[in-house]
Amino acid sequence: MNVFGVDIGGSGIKGAPVDLERGDLAEPRHKVLTPQPATPDDVADSVAEVVRNFGWSGPVGVTFPGVVTHNTVRTAANVAKDWVGVDASALLGERLGGMPVTVLNDADAAGVAEMSFGAGRGRKGTVVLLTFGTGIGSAVFIDGRLVPNTELGHLELNGHEAEKRASTKAKDDEDLSWPHWARRVQKYLAHVEMLLSPELFIIGGGVSRKADRFLPLIEGVDAEVVPAELQNNAGIVGAAMAAAGR
Ligand code: BGC
Repeated sequence: MNVFGVDIGGSGIKGAPVDLERGDLAEPRHKVLTPQPATPDDVADSVAEVVRNFGWSGPVGVTFPGVVTHNTVRTAANVAKDWVGVDASALLGERLGGMPVTVLNDADAAGVAEMSFGAGRGRKGTVVLLTFGTGIGSAVFIDGRLVPNTELGHLELNGHEAEKRASTKAKDDEDLSWPHWARRVQKYLAHVEMLLSPELFIIGGGVSRKADRFLPLIEGVDAEVVPAELQNNAGIVGAAMAAAGR
C-alpha cells in the first residue's frame, strides 16, 4: 500500500508516495524551498504543491519541526511563531481539498521509520534518534515504543541551547571544521547519555550522509552511535506510516 509523506523542514519541503511494505519512496521525491517567513498559509500552499505534483489523492502524513499534539502545533522554534495553536491537520486538509492529513513532529517521524526499516530495526531498550539540521530533533524509544515530543535539542549545554551550538546550521553559520563541530556533538551526546543511558544513538538529518566525516571522531560515549539508514527520507517515510496508523 502507498501513502503520501511530506517532510516540512527549515529549508525544504519534500514529499513522495511511500511504499509502506518496503519502507521506501515509491517514486523520486519532489522538493520545494520552504517559504520565508514560513507562515502557516504559505507553508500549506507549498505542501499542496508537492502533493499535487504527483496527482495524489488519499491519506497524507506530514512532519512538522515543532511539538505536535493531536495534530495541533504547540511550538515553532525555526518556523513562523503564528503556527503555535494551529490545527495543522485541518489547515492542510482544507488546502488539499479534503484529503485526510496526519501531522507529527519531524524527528518522531524519522525515528518511527528508522525503528521499522532502518538502523533501529528490532532494537530493544532505550534508543535515541537525533536529527541534526536547522535545529536538533529527538525521538526516544523504549522497547520500540515512541515517547513523543521529547525536544532534546533545547537542552542547555554550557549555558547555551544545544541546537544553537551543535546543529548543522550552527556548523555552517560559524563555519566550523568537522573536528570542531564533532567535539560539540560529542559533548551533546554525552549530556543526553547522562540523562537517559540509551543503548543506541541513531544520527539522522541530512548530515547522516556524511557520517564518515564526523562519527569516527566521536569518543567517550558508551552507547553505540550509528548513522540513520534511511538518511534524509526517514521523515517522509515516517509521516506516511503515521498517516496509515502504523
Ligand atoms: C524543534 C523540534 C524539531 C527540531 C528539528 C527543534 O527546534 O523544537 O520540534 O524536531 O527542531 O527540526
